[in-house]
Amino acid sequence: MCGIIGYIGSKKASPILISGLLRLEYRGYDSAGIATVEKNGLSVMKDKGRVKNLYNLEGIDDLEGTIGIAHTRWATHGKPSKENSHPHLDNSKNFAVVHNGIIENYSDLKGFLEKNGYTFYSQTDTEVIPNLIHYYYTKDKNNDKDRILRAVQHTCKDLKGSYAIQVISKYMPDNMIVVRKDSPLVIGKGDGECYISSDIPAILSFTRDFYLLNDNEFAVLSRDKVEFYDIDLNKINKNVKNIEWSASSADKNGFEDYMLKEIHEQPTAIRETIGSRLPENEPCNFDDLNFTKEFLTSINKIYIVACGTAMHAGLSGKIAIEKLCKIPVTVDIASEFRYRDPIIDKNTLCIFISQSGETADTIAALKLSKSKGATTLAVSNVIGSSITREADYSIYTHAGPEIAVASTKAYTSQIVLLSLLAIYFAEILETTSVFELKDLKKELLELPNKIENALKSSKRIQEFAKNIYQEKDVFFLGRGVDYNTALEASLKLKEISYIHSEAYAAGELKHGPIALIENGITVISIITDPKLVEKTISNIQEVITRGAKTLVITNQELPANNFDTIITVPDVNVLLSPVLSIIPLQLLSYYISKEKGLDVDKPRNLAKSVTVE
Ligand code: M6R
Repeated sequence: MCGIIGYIGSKKASPILISGLLRLEYRGYDSAGIATVEKNGLSVMKDKGRVKNLYNLEGIDDLEGTIGIAHTRWATHGKPSKENSHPHLDNSKNFAVVHNGIIENYSDLKGFLEKNGYTFYSQTDTEVIPNLIHYYYTKDKNNDKDRILRAVQHTCKDLKGSYAIQVISKYMPDNMIVVRKDSPLVIGKGDGECYISSDIPAILSFTRDFYLLNDNEFAVLSRDKVEFYDIDLNKINKNVKNIEWSASSADKNGFEDYMLKEIHEQPTAIRETIGSRLPENEPCNFDDLNFTKEFLTSINKIYIVACGTAMHAGLSGKIAIEKLCKIPVTVDIASEFRYRDPIIDKNTLCIFISQSGETADTIAALKLSKSKGATTLAVSNVIGSSITREADYSIYTHAGPEIAVASTKAYTSQIVLLSLLAIYFAEILETTSVFELKDLKKELLELPNKIENALKSSKRIQEFAKNIYQEKDVFFLGRGVDYNTALEASLKLKEISYIHSEAYAAGELKHGPIALIENGITVISIITDPKLVEKTISNIQEVITRGAKTLVITNQELPANNFDTIITVPDVNVLLSPVLSIIPLQLLSYYISKEKGLDVDKPRNLAKSVTVE
């Protein structure tokens, strides 16, 4: 969580920093601040609240510095307040730091520094960092050009936890130092200037050339060059990576909100994700994997591990892989998986799904699986993200930058990529007939057009949203793949509409939750599996009898007059139906949130990538 931005070049840093922060605000938005190197030392301006408040700070327009660091915060230690906002200064006010992550041993370090005469002005874990840098700087009697770098290195050796840190100093008017461990940070290289950011989209309008920093690597930035060091300060070489995303893909492009734009981008996202993986009359193509029949036959168990929406995509992946490849698949929540000693050996394949590729629990689960000998495969939307650098293999959704906190196009792209993966495995293993796979491939290629059709339900959904936006509780029901859609729809509704909702496997209702159904309550059901139509209808009948209002999302012929509202989505192979049935439900959450006047893209208490445990 939290977003960090940095600039070093010949232009005024402050407007660049603030515009970068505005783009990063989805990572956290309870306070913001910038620090620049001015002629007479460091200047720090910060406050509680949204980034745009920075424009009102007295003196912000007078900043002339061409080197600066900036931060938008998602509070962990200490409530949102001016004191707790970043950047933080050391006691001498000569070192300014912004930090994303959590310093787990900060209270020990704080105690140590207090004993050495340092005073603390915030409740944050971060404030120990500039003070430790100052401590090591003053202890070092060798006044050469690397003195500050050594102080930062010693500081990092003391820190336990996760961090992406930017440091500027009055003593270093032409440089900036950055370092990361388990928290994202990228360096954009321009002409005579460099940009730092927590993620690529925030600085795409400035450059497409990026350096990706690994854990425990330091970069010393000057205007025209970047030098890299390992933890022992040995110099290392890095190549620039050119990123293909266009700057406009990170803009709203005429839509009112990023979420609405991203919902409408799903046909393109799916087309791009399929890309060249389905060549005509040839096997599914994953040259980034090149798995052999021998290897896949040796795999006797697959774990799919992820968080939130990515985990819901994993549930659809499980159904596809089990059906087409006959390998048992367990889907796990990363924060549970990593603490329960899962049974893993060299015959286990662990698949980790993360849109951002930076989710702390998913990365930790990956590291655990690797240490137990599993083969690890990352599914991410961000090339070069942490998870893809840790995994043995990586495959990508090509959904383009997803800015809204609520995941939409990444989710459907993940389902599509997992379906392609299941086909790829099944073709190698020969576990499903070629005719069946051929049909499925054809259906995959037709998906983008069918999504366009599903989006046409928008007006009706908007009307429905007007009827239910004041509800306190909503229930979602489904069976099989439709249960997975119910889980995802319920998460979307909670996340951006702040309506309490529950998703149940429809057959499970009478084992307890039906006690909650009372007159007037809204129950939303999904029916796309032809085998389960009658069973689900019976369950819906049970809630109608108890007074529920019903909305059904379906691609099946249903008996007329049974339900209050029916929204039809295009018919498709059941393995792919979650991609279509979620579309009206994404729109529903969106329009309810709008109806309630909420900030759709930046829901309360949430941040886009959860880089803390
Ligand atoms: O970047 P990731 O895919 O690893 O993120 C995982 C979850 O934090 C994410 O899907 C979250 O649940 C979304 N905000 C839901 O819309």
